[in-house]
Amino acid sequence: MPRDPVNKLLLFGATGDLAQRMLLPSLYGLHADGLLPQGLTIVGAARTEHTDDSYREFAKKALDKFLPEDRKDESAVDTYLQRLAYQPIDMSDFAQFKPLAEKVGDVTGGLAIYLSTAPSLFEAAITGLEQAGLGGPTVRIGLEKPLGYDLASSQEINDAVAKVFPEDRTFRIDHYLGKETVQNIMALRFGNTFFEPIWNARGIENVQITIAETVGLEERAGYYDGAGALRDMVANHILQLLALVAMEPPARYDKTAIRDEKAKVFHSLRRITPEDVGKVVVTGQYGAGASGGEIVKGYTDELGKASDTETFVAIKANVDNWRWQGVPFYLRTGKRLPVRRSEIAIQFKPVPHSMFAGRGGMLQPNVLVIRLQPEEYIQLLVMAKEPGLDRDGVKLREVPLNLSLDAEFAGARRRIAYERLLLDLIEGDQTLFVRRDEVEAQWTWIDSIRAGWSANGTRPKSYASGSWGPSAAIALTERDGVTWQDD
Ligand code: BG6
Repeated sequence: MPRDPVNKLLLFGATGDLAQRMLLPSLYGLHADGLLPQGLTIVGAARTEHTDDSYREFAKKALDKFLPEDRKDESAVDTYLQRLAYQPIDMSDFAQFKPLAEKVGDVTGGLAIYLSTAPSLFEAAITGLEQAGLGGPTVRIGLEKPLGYDLASSQEINDAVAKVFPEDRTFRIDHYLGKETVQNIMALRFGNTFFEPIWNARGIENVQITIAETVGLEERAGYYDGAGALRDMVANHILQLLALVAMEPPARYDKTAIRDEKAKVFHSLRRITPEDVGKVVVTGQYGAGASGGEIVKGYTDELGKASDTETFVAIKANVDNWRWQGVPFYLRTGKRLPVRRSEIAIQFKPVPHSMFAGRGGMLQPNVLVIRLQPEEYIQLLVMAKEPGLDRDGVKLREVPLNLSLDAEFAGARRRIAYERLLLDLIEGDQTLFVRRDEVEAQWTWIDSIRAGWSANGTRPKSYASGSWGPSAAIALTERDGVTWQDD
């Protein structure tokens, strides 16, 4: 992929939580490793009043707080801060885009814009950018979620964006795609020969994808209560993981081949009808309990009002194509669960006949576990014989074949997902960004679930903080004789 770096970056939401925790530290990481183009300047923009200098101080505080100690290098921090400038802006006021454009200056050397804003401000922001001359052919735009809250609103946003930025200059961010282990799914599947022949309905019994969090609402009540777990996590991160597991082998590692294959998976997702939704989707809302070692309040107490927003969802999904016919994909995500863990578990079929049956040996089907976080590893659970003379029968035990990515690549620094994505945005590589047709196919499927909820008046079931969601989530798999991996 030829690099086409820009020499300016405009960061909207520059004083927000994401900027402090992720964006400013990520850009610093790239700067410190000499990966940012020489002379690249970064203009921060947000409502808060700041001068260039006070913004640099603000950024410095964010680095002090969120950079790991071993990454802090005073001279690198100083030169990094010199790249920063700031322009306050109220995005609902078009007139304010003009001084912003003046601050950004000449964009003939290329400008990358990072836009993270409430869906309601999107159209105004795009129009403001265009009117101020920040929409030309040398400008590309990165869009942070939420890109709408259903198909219609996402189309509206995408239409507004497309009027100014064609698809090849539009970078939709799903930060899960920037995670190292997520990209490793492709390496595992398509860089090795042994999985592919059984990576289908003949070899695989079911797939489980879990993103469990211990956090609750955090400071995001306004956004989260209007979104809920289905839109916040399934519509993007979980479906992206599902697509990487389920897609056909792309012909090349490039933006067209990979995104074509993912889009086909989204189009193959079986629509969930209002008749089925109660059987294949479980929703929950956390109540009081203990999570992450603390006593915590229930969702509505945290929120301060009654709410039917789901903080947990578990879904039995199906991909209707030849490869995956009859293979359930069990998906679940929730807040205030017992642990923070993102994981994919591929459960293979049992052996067709067990020669050990009469001799006391119990066989467990093989499972491939891809742990995305907090640890990074790939583990294949295989049957092995316990040492012994076997006079009372052969004793077999499930043992893990471990590939610890943390240990194997111990020398390589783990980058924050945003480092990778910001660098790709700056250099113009769209491979790990989500294309419009993917987003729309994702929403189409999500909307079918929500339509079922409203047709049936579905309300989330309460679950205790620190548990694995409502008991119906356990029943969802148990009915099929399947247990969630590693509860
Ligand atoms: C975000 C969601 O996209 O992902 C949050 O809006 C969630 O609700 C977060 O907490 C999880 O990301 P990660 O990288 O911590 O798993």
